[in-house]
Amino acid sequence: MINVGNVVKGYKTAEARWARFGPYYAMFPLDFAFEVVQKYSKEGDYIIDPFAGRGSSIFAGGVLGRHSLGIEINPIGWLYGTVKIAPAEKDKVIQRLIYIYNKKELYKKDASNLPVFYRMCYGKNVLKFLLSVRNNLDWKHDHKDATLMSIILVYLHGKIGESLSNQMQMTKAMGMNYSMNWWKSKNLSQPPDFDPLDFLLERIEWRYKKGYPQIEESRIVLGDSTQELSKIAERACDNDIKFRLLFTSPPYYSLTDYHKDQWLRLWLIGGPEIPETNKEKYRGRFNDKEDYCKLLDTTFGSCVPMMDKKSTIYVRTDKRNWTFNITMEILRKHFPKHKLSIVDRNITKRTQTEIFGNSSSEKGEIDIILTK
Ligand SMILES: C[S@@+](CC[C@H](N)C(=O)[O-])C[C@H]1O[C@@H](n2cnc3c(N)ncnc32)[C@H](O)[C@@H]1O
Repeated sequence: MINVGNVVKGYKTAEARWARFGPYYAMFPLDFAFEVVQKYSKEGDYIIDPFAGRGSSIFAGGVLGRHSLGIEINPIGWLYGTVKIAPAEKDKVIQRLIYIYNKKELYKKDASNLPVFYRMCYGKNVLKFLLSVRNNLDWKHDHKDATLMSIILVYLHGKIGESLSNQMQMTKAMGMNYSMNWWKSKNLSQPPDFDPLDFLLERIEWRYKKGYPQIEESRIVLGDSTQELSKIAERACDNDIKFRLLFTSPPYYSLTDYHKDQWLRLWLIGGPEIPETNKEKYRGRFNDKEDYCKLLDTTFGSCVPMMDKKSTIYVRTDKRNWTFNITMEILRKHFPKHKLSIVDRNITKRTQTEIFGNSSSEKGEIDIILTK
């Protein structure tokens, strides 16, 4: 049996180097993801995560020899997840990097026409290079391009010297005006300028130093679970496949806007220069109660026909009353014969709920586990 702790501790194995790939909000702690997969499924089983985020459950499942299937609506989370389970070969990624880098002078004029924010966030050389990345990488259809894109996304913003940008948070991009005012107030109006090629080559060498995971039996679909699951259920039925574990963490009601937090990364992969409020369903802050119920109801409901008779449903959610109660109600409705247990996570670190300003007494997260 694989020692869960060793797989993801430190940076000694390829799996450990890729497991944490991708700054993203609301991630499962990795050892937790490995423990749940190991406890509630066995090698060769099928597991599903309809809200896959940056793919921690799918990665753990894949490494532990489970056929794992994720669905993620946010292309940034999808890119991190889909790349970490099977990154493209290093040499091919480097070849593409050099090709894209060599085209950067073509974007000199476009770079100088971008809104001021971009010119305060990135030095001239970095900005021309980013425009070349944005215009030339076919991340949706070409896996080496997806790999290179997701590596660049990791370093798109963060601390000066550790990222391609002026000083910024790594996990979440702040708004344009907020950032510009902040840089001015800190005498950081001039962004650092350096050669992005050397910077990225060094990071690529580090990431691939111990090799890379090649998980073949797992995948993550880019799309909306409320639409994708019916197609998946049909294919599973045609192939006589039943899932042993549904392991997920849905977005929490009215808390995180995964698209807004990632607006700068979404720009790099082709999104708008000026972030827009996303009015599309399930791409905002999840603050409409009716839509939220529909999301959980349709998603968990669509999974029912795919689940094995002895399946486990493991859902980590927010402890606040409304989210917790509605999640319980919907899960009980769809899995009425399963036995219920609740694990109250006594989380000592600041949780997502707290970071986003919830001051209610029901802080933290809770696990709803349904077993047969
Ligand atoms: C709490 S996060 C999951 C994080 C994940 N457990 C991890 O460790 O990375 C919830 C995820 O659900 C995604 N999501 C929200 N609505 C969705 C939908 N309709 N279909 C697929 N994914 C969706 C969000 O984009 C977000 O990445």
